[in-house]
This record gives sequence, structure tokens and C-alpha cells, in this order.
Amino acid sequence: MTALPVLAVASEAYPLVKTGGLADVVGALPAALAAEGVAVRTLLPGYPAVLRALRDAEVAAELGPLAGGPATLLAGRAEAEGGAMALLVLDAPHLFAREGGPYAGPDGRDWPDNPQRFAALCRVAARIGKGLLPNFVPEVVHAHDWQAGLVPAYLRYGGAGARPGTVVTVHNLAFQGSFPRALLAELELPPEAWSIDGVEYYGAIGFLKAGLRLADRVTTVSPTYAAEITTAEGGMGLEGLLRARGSELSGILNGLDTAVWDPGRDPHLAAPFDTRRLKAREANRAALRGAFGLDDTPDAPVLGVVSRLTWQKGMDLVLEALPDLLGHGMRLALLGSGDRALEAGFSEAAAAHPGRVGVRLGYDEALAHAIQGGCDALLVPSRFEPCGLTQLSALRYGALPVVARVGGLADTVIDCNTVALAAGVGTGLQFAPTTAPALRAALARLAALWRDPKAWQRAQRNGMAADLGWTQPARRYAALFQEVRSGG
Ligand code: ADP
Ligand code: GLC
Repeated sequence: MTALPVLAVASEAYPLVKTGGLADVVGALPAALAAEGVAVRTLLPGYPAVLRALRDAEVAAELGPLAGGPATLLAGRAEAEGGAMALLVLDAPHLFAREGGPYAGPDGRDWPDNPQRFAALCRVAARIGKGLLPNFVPEVVHAHDWQAGLVPAYLRYGGAGARPGTVVTVHNLAFQGSFPRALLAELELPPEAWSIDGVEYYGAIGFLKAGLRLADRVTTVSPTYAAEITTAEGGMGLEGLLRARGSELSGILNGLDTAVWDPGRDPHLAAPFDTRRLKAREANRAALRGAFGLDDTPDAPVLGVVSRLTWQKGMDLVLEALPDLLGHGMRLALLGSGDRALEAGFSEAAAAHPGRVGVRLGYDEALAHAIQGGCDALLVPSRFEPCGLTQLSALRYGALPVVARVGGLADTVIDCNTVALAAGVGTGLQFAPTTAPALRAALARLAALWRDPKAWQRAQRNGMAADLGWTQPARRYAALFQEVRSGG
């Protein structure tokens, strides 16, 4: 049987360009899907980092003028831990050849031409979907987040002829990509696209909205988030549309890239370990204390945080609960970047509590691994969390996740309540609602659990043994692709 050709479209992919979990998913899914008979090629913008990583590049198509400049489609591959990734790269220097982030410049402000940049990516994806490349005609296009949201729109309004099936995956409903109606013609959307059943969204052009409305299937990254986004509380204005999709909306839990996150062979760890060599974890704990200047705390856990510092992630609550955390004798090692006020708050906390609070502002892959391998528990107090990946790496690395009971956090961590403890199945702690008092109560429970080393170790081992990889999720994506494939 020949493999099912699928075009993935995204604005980031680990290890080439990453601002968050989206990149992890886009980077890891192709290798897992290959094992399920799906051959993915990933279309990415030609940012400098992507062009630098592209190997065996050749011109797949000259695209002519695109959004005000010349554009070429390159084909090639990039090396990733799980194997090589097959790439198509939109090389359009006037849109993507900039130093800075994928969405914002060095000053932190969004690139003003983001609608043009990502609409161009979507138009090229639709052209590939309609047969631009003779040797790669995808039967399904898998579009990720708002940046790829217009792909189903360009396919729908792009004239007659066979078109591939479409799946839109939403990783975070908070980012919707809404832009002024005046751009309609410039983005090459025909007048009939301006409809409540098309791209129109509260008087603007809604990139994500268009995808959610027009894709054959919509998925999000956990079953609980799939339910949450159909409610007024979690739907961020899109709940009505999402409810109307009925069973065409589903949640497929993210996996963890177990090639990247393997405590037995992680180059960023002071000492590799696994469930049979759990004692070796001590060396990582000591290295982490060293890296963050924390004093020794045999009598209390070292808590870790690896996170964007934003309201979504509930990081203000960590600051609020800090007196309790320190009162239990706990230490904090935090790595993150984001809102200026939160960055300042954590810097002040570190200055006020040397040896007890260690803070590193910035983005640092190696340190993220060191925290996961060395902290005793990882805090993830999110107000909402489509899936969350850091609690998954924490589980695999023997750190107990302490999570808010929302979205994918609720789906991936088993609370060590009395029943779970008696049955020996817990893997961490959950708390709700996402408030400072509830977080404080969770810290008190954590302190109690720490005083029961047998129960703690049991939870550690349960988490490390959990099936967190991409095999099961990839199977579900593959089944979904079969449902919508053009030839099917
Ligand atoms: P989100 O995508 O909402 O930020 P996820 O938990 O899905 O949250 O994914 C976050 C990813 O980014 C994880 O791979 C995590 O390890 C990584 N990460 C977050 N902040 C940092 C940081 N400051 N340094 C290094 N890695 C980080
Ligand atoms: C988004 C979400 C996060 C999810 C990630 C990958 O960034 O905020 O919860 O894990 O996408 O799907």
C-alpha cells in the first residue's frame, strides 16, 4: 500500500523555529505518522533559520509574484532527533527574510504585514493542494493554528477541480488572527468569501475562524479542551461555531517527542537515569541547585517552572503563593520569559530570597531539560491549557507535575488523592479552580506527599512508565486523514 500523502502547514517546527508547543507537535508528528502509513511534507515559511537548516534544497516551483515580491517553493529536508523531516519552504524574502521572531520583530511588536505573510503561506499551500507539484499531490492538508487557517478558504474559493481533504488543528484559541476587512482583495479572497459561513468574523477577516468553519474536520490537542472550547467560558467567542461542528470537532491528545525527551540519553543532563536507575537523578538535582544557586533542601522539594510568563500560564499565582511555597521550605527554579511585569516580579523574588528562589529569564532548551531532570515537582498553574507539554516531560523525567485541572493538564496527570494513592496509580497533583488559594492548598498537599517517600516514589515511577509518546495520537490522526482524504 502506498503511503497517504499529507501536506502539513505551520508557522513553526522544532528544531528549526520554535516559540512554544506548536513547534514541538509539528516537528514530532511526521515521524510518528510515517509509521502509520502517512507521508507528511511540511510547508514552512522561509525564515532565515529554516533556510539555514534546509538540506538538499532544490527548486520545486517558481511561484511568480506573491504578495508583492518574488517567491520560490523549495523542497528539501531538515534533520530532527526523530529522523529527517521532509520540507517544502516558501522562500519569499520580502515576507520572511528578517531577523527576529516568526511573528514579531526584535522590539516585540507583531510584524505589521502578518496577514499578508501568512495568507501567502496559505495560498501556496492551497496551490500545492490543487496539484502544483506533479510529484506530490496531497490527499489531505493539515493546517495548524491561525497562521494556516485560511488554507481551507483558498481551497474552497479557489475554483473547480479536485481538492484535498482538510483538517485544521487548533493549538490555542486565544490566538485567532483577525485582520481588517479592507485587506480582503489584497489577500486574494473573493467577495463571496465575505460571509458568516466564510472568513467574516465580527466584521473582520478571521483566519482561524475561516479554518474552523471550512475545514472538513477540526481537532484540538486534548479531549478536555475540545469540550471546553464549546462553552461560553472557554470558547473565546467561537463556541457557537465550534458547537455547530458537532462530531466533526474532536480532541487528540498531544504526545511527547520521546527522542528529544529521553532521560536515559539526554545530553543536557548531568547524569542519565531511568526507573531502574532513579538514584542517579540525585546528581541532576544537585546540578540544578548549582545552576540556580539554591541551597540544599533534603527536607523539602525543589519546584521547577518552564513556561511562557503570561496570564494564560497563571504565573502571577506562583508569585502570590510564594510565601507559602517558601514556608514549606520548598525551593523554586524558574525558567521563562514573557510579560515584563511578571519578569520583574520573579527577578525581585530571586533578589529577595537568594538560595531559595532561582530565576532565569529567557529561552534555553538545555536548561529546560536540566530543570525537568533535576526538580522534584513541576508547577503548571494554567488558567487554560489546550494540552501542555511541560507536564509530559516532567512525567517522563520523574518530576511530579502540580497542575491546574484544565484542558490537557486534566487529561494527562492523575491526582494522588486517597483513592489513587491506595490504588497506587497517581502521577502528580491537580488543583481547581486556578486561584492562589487553590494553588496554596496544592502546595500543602505536595508537602505532605513529600513526607511519604514511598508514595512519592510510586508516583514518580508511575509517571515515568506512562505511555506519553506519539504512537497512539498518530494513529488517531491517521484515521482522521483516511476519513477526509480526497481519493477516499
Ligand atoms: P505553550 O506552547 O503554550 O507555551 P507547551 O507546554 O505546549 O506550552 O509548550 C511549551 C514548550 O516550550 C515546551 O517544549 C517547553 O519545554 C518549551 N519552553 C517554554 N518556555 C521555555 C523556555 N523559557 N526555555 C526553553 N524552553 C521553553
Ligand atoms: C499551544 C498551547 C499548549 C499546547 C501547544 C501544542 O501552544 O498553549 O497547551 O500544548 O499549543 O499543541
